Amino acid sequence: MSAQSKDKARRLAAPDIAARKGGEPVVCLTCYTAPMAGLLDAHCDVLLVGDSVGMVLHGLPNTLAVTLDMMILHAQAVVRGSSRALVVVDMPFGSYEASPEQAFANACRVMKETGAGAIKVESGPTAASTIAYLTQRGIPVMGHVGLRPQALLVEGAFKAKGRIASERERVLEEARLTDEAGVFSMVVEGVAESLARDVTAAVSAPTIGIGASSACDGQVLVTDDMLGLFDWTPRFVRRYADLKTEIGLAVERYAADVRARRFPGEAETYFGKS
Ligand code: KIV
Repeated sequence: MSAQSKDKARRLAAPDIAARKGGEPVVCLTCYTAPMAGLLDAHCDVLLVGDSVGMVLHGLPNTLAVTLDMMILHAQAVVRGSSRALVVVDMPFGSYEASPEQAFANACRVMKETGAGAIKVESGPTAASTIAYLTQRGIPVMGHVGLRPQALLVEGAFKAKGRIASERERVLEEARLTDEAGVFSMVVEGVAESLARDVTAAVSAPTIGIGASSACDGQVLVTDDMLGLFDWTPRFVRRYADLKTEIGLAVERYAADVRARRFPGEAETYFGKS
């Protein structure tokens, strides 16, 4: 194998993403299963096993009930189904906030049991010391500032950030502290364009926006949203397919064929040798 083809076959790692600051945009999508990982892998730099899995696949009303075991199971599937993209695993609510030691123990479980390349934590006011503790001990960390879904119960609702000055300052400060703590990249969620621009300029790590304008160094979407698997999608999502309609039509045709005894036909039937 030549050095070049060896390099092509190598899975992307956290430093490869860190090196993309201000350069080629980072392409990221959420992913929770092996078959979907197989479909996304060739096109994405990062597959994010987000705790959104709780809402998208498990029908939960928010991300708060998602457990570490759920994240590990889905991350194992995504690592198995991909070979090129960096797999990043969200640390769920309650698995990292108590202390840097708790975060390290749980992040080690994720890394050892899944083979993923990095973890992600929502960068609340006290996260910087935890992020520094993890990165200094060999765990690549992606931060997450702006709208933080795990803060839902104290915030009351999912609201875009950065419309008032004090909030802008708070998000900017959290982004700076997250950056200084050593993240290799950070998600910036649900912020006004001017704040996304200021955060991106203020930090050395690439910013990966979701509902945060084109001012970021990369973009992430929930895959099921951009594929049109839900009736409602937030304003910041562009739908690249209408799979809900496609699936509905396919299942309708299947049900009609079964009821009319058109399926299975000869082509789908095993016949014994006579
Ligand atoms: O859980 C998730 O999917 C996320 C993305 C929305 C960034 O954190």
